[in-house]
Parts: sequence; C-alpha cells; structure tokens
Amino acid sequence: MVDETKTAKLTIDGDSFELPILSPSAGPDVLDIRKLYGQAGVFTYDPGFTSTAACDSTITFIDGGKGELLHRGYPIDQLASQSHFLEVCYLLLYDALPTAAELEKFENTITRHTMIHEQMVNFFRGFRRDAHPMAIMVGVVGAMAAFYHDSTDISDPQQREVASHRLIAKMPTIAAWAYKYSIGQPFVYPRNDLDYAANFLHMCFAVPAEEYQVDPILARAMDRIFTLHADHEQNASTSTVRLASSSGANPFACIAAGIACLWGPAHGGANQACLEMLNEIGSTDRIPEFIARAKDKNDPFRLMGFGHRVYKNFDPRATVMKQSADEVLELLGVENNPILAVAKELEAAALADPYFAEKKLFPNVDFYSGIILEAMGFPTSMFTPVFALARTVGWISQWKEQISDPALKIGRPRQLYLGETARNYVNIEDR
Ligand code: ACO
Repeated sequence: MVDETKTAKLTIDGDSFELPILSPSAGPDVLDIRKLYGQAGVFTYDPGFTSTAACDSTITFIDGGKGELLHRGYPIDQLASQSHFLEVCYLLLYDALPTAAELEKFENTITRHTMIHEQMVNFFRGFRRDAHPMAIMVGVVGAMAAFYHDSTDISDPQQREVASHRLIAKMPTIAAWAYKYSIGQPFVYPRNDLDYAANFLHMCFAVPAEEYQVDPILARAMDRIFTLHADHEQNASTSTVRLASSSGANPFACIAAGIACLWGPAHGGANQACLEMLNEIGSTDRIPEFIARAKDKNDPFRLMGFGHRVYKNFDPRATVMKQSADEVLELLGVENNPILAVAKELEAAALADPYFAEKKLFPNVDFYSGIILEAMGFPTSMFTPVFALARTVGWISQWKEQISDPALKIGRPRQLYLGETARNYVNIEDR
C-alpha cells in the first residue's frame, strides 16, 4: 500500500509546484512526477534511469546497500538453499509459495509443455553452424508467435497464462537445441521423467548412441543457477520486455526483445566475458597487470564479473554461487582448476585494492557462474543462453504484472534535444 501523505516542493523561476511523494513498502520514497510536464512544462533528465522508478511492482525487492534480494518477500539465500527453481517460478508468477497440490499441478503443466512444434526444427537448421546460440534464441523465441496463435491475445488472461507456461517450459528445449545444432549433434527431445534442470542437462549432453545419467549433484547445481537468475526487478532486459509489452506486442516478441538485451556484455553476456577474461589472464602472476588495466582511465578494459548498478556492498547471489562453484568443482575433481585459482586470487586482489573499495566494486553473480558452467561442460557461448532461460520466468512475471494493470500506458520517454533547430532544406547543388 503506497503512503501518499508526503509532498515535495519544486520551484522553477519563482513558480512553485507540489509533487506527491509515494512511500513504498520497502526502499526509498519516490517523487511522483507524472503531472510535472503538464503543470510546469519541464521534463526530467535521467539517462540510464539511475534515479527513476519506471513502474510499480510487487515481485522483487533489492536493497543494494544491504546486499538484499527478496522475491515476494523471501530472501534469495533461503530460496536457493531450501526451495527449487519451479517453486520459485510459481512464487514469482502467482505471488505466494504453492501448496503441495498447487506445486504438483504447476510442475506437471510445465513438464507437459516442453516439446516445441516439430516444424520449428527448420528454424534451427536455417542458421549457420557457427551462429551464437543467443542469436538462435532471439530468432526462435520470436518465431514462437508464428506457431502458438492461441496464446498471443494479451487481453485474454487464459491465453496469457498459457503463453507464460509455454515460455518457461520450452526455453530449456530451445537453448539446448541451439547448443546441439552448433556442435552438429542430433537434437535430444525432452523427457517427462526428469525434473526441469536434469531435463535441460539431458537435452544438452545426451546423445542417441549411449545412455546418459544426469548426476543429481550437477542437476541441483544447475537448478540453483536457474534460481539465482530467476528475476532481478527492473534490470535492462526486464525493462526492455516491459517497454516492448507496453505497446501491446505479443509475449513471444517481448521475451525475444528481452533476450536481445540480455546478450550484451554489460548484462547477461558478462558471464561469458568473465570466463574469457579469466582465460586471457591465464595465470595468477598476470593478475597485477589486469588490475592495473582495470584502473587505467585510458583503457576501456573492465574487470568482468565485477560491479553492479544496484549492489554496492556485495551481490547476495555471488555468495551462493561461490559456494556452489566449490561443491561442483570438488564433485568433478577439478578443485585445482587453474582458472579457478586465477578467479580466487583476482577476487582477493581486487577486494584488497582501494580503487575497487572506493567505487564499491564487488564480484557479481557472473563472476563464479561461468566457472561452474564450464566445469559442467558448457562452452562459453552457452553461458548467456542459460541465463536467458532462467530469467524467462522473471520477464514473464513482470510482463504479466504489467499487462494486468488497467492503467497501463505505452512507454514513451522524452529527450533533452541538443540538435539543430528548424532550418531550411538546401538543394544538393547548393551545399
Ligand atoms: N572494472 C573496473 N572499473 C569499473 C568496473 C569494473 N568492472 N565497473 C565499474 N567500474 C568503475 C567505472 O569505470 C566508474 O569509474 P569512474 O567513476 O571513475 O568513471 C565507476 O566504477 C562506476 O561505473 P559505472 O559504469 O558508472 O557504473 P554502473 O552502475 O553504470 O555499471 C556495470 C554497472 C555495467 C555492471 C559495471 O560495473 C560493469 O561494466 N561491470 C562489468 C560487467 C559485468 O560484470 N556486468 C554484469 C552485471 S550483473 C548482471 O547483469 C547479472
């Protein structure tokens, strides 16, 4: 419930305007400037949205200073250790932890929507073998709108529900097939006797020629990676999904837009970029050189997997991910992995360096996720698709929340125009 009793006063050239202040259930107060332009004739300027709340939401809360991440009020470390991904999906979608019967029904529904239309195989085959799996995912997820016409009417709550289930259920199949295609192996169909994470590992690593047993510890680690990436309030890709959806676009198009945004190295692409950086560093004696580069204002190099727009003390997901990395590497007998040694020493060196402390730069979730994924056998190009498949539930939950709001308006930012003012066209011979 928003407390609307406070106000702020803005004075422009002697004229005063009263702005309502909205007090949320948690987090800083928000100045309501919706009527500002109409009343005062000015815009606000905030590129990168560093001080702007673009929507209201009840899904996820982050306190960057405290390193707190809550989904519907539940702390991420409790969800990562005591819950599992599909239960977290239910929580994000429906606002409450499910009863046993509700969970069973939900898991059943997701499990029974994992196959994709057989004709979609042609889309995969149409890509070059060396296509990045994220390119395939953007294309194939967008193409779902052409196959599932019965779940594109966003005004129908039942169709929205079916689209949500389809996207969560089919994303592992799409991601796994993007990978299989890139390595020239046959597509492996989903198996209903496996849970969500085990099924994904199976579709990625099984081959028809021999039996493949999913290790339950690896399946648990995979599930935890999904849980840790499930939602993160109004980040760049989620905001992209919301902006695309504000025009009334269908859910498959909106999620394809989110995948496109996630691809960038400043966002979901960071886990791939981080592992590539650790490989480039290669040995612990080169760490000082890379730390110096990260601090050099004239060098565009940044320590990938470090820093976060919101977390300024620690990323609570990174703490769980680090533990998981230790468990998985021990299980796989690769605790002495040289890249892990570089990662650990780089983290320690950066944390001890005043530059990183002053700028509040700490390892984020991506610093360790790449190490786990590589140990599981994923190539670096698959890191971001794994993130995309896990974040799909967050995108869909935020999309559902936005679409169900009767006050929904198309997103249309304004600008600070610095170009030429009106001038007359000059014929080409006179220029
Ligand atoms: N290495 C070195 N310096 C850094 C780093 C880094 N990783 N991140 C930020 N800085 C420095 C900047 O140079 C800047 O210094 P300045 O004030 O002297 O100019 C200062 O810290 C603030 O940086 P901004 O870019 O303004 O911070 P912002 O909040 O916009 O950026 C971001 C956050 C994009 C995550 C940034 O820290 C970064 O590029 N990190 C590396 C990429 C990465 O790991 N991304 C994953 C994010 S988590 C996720 O998507 C799941």
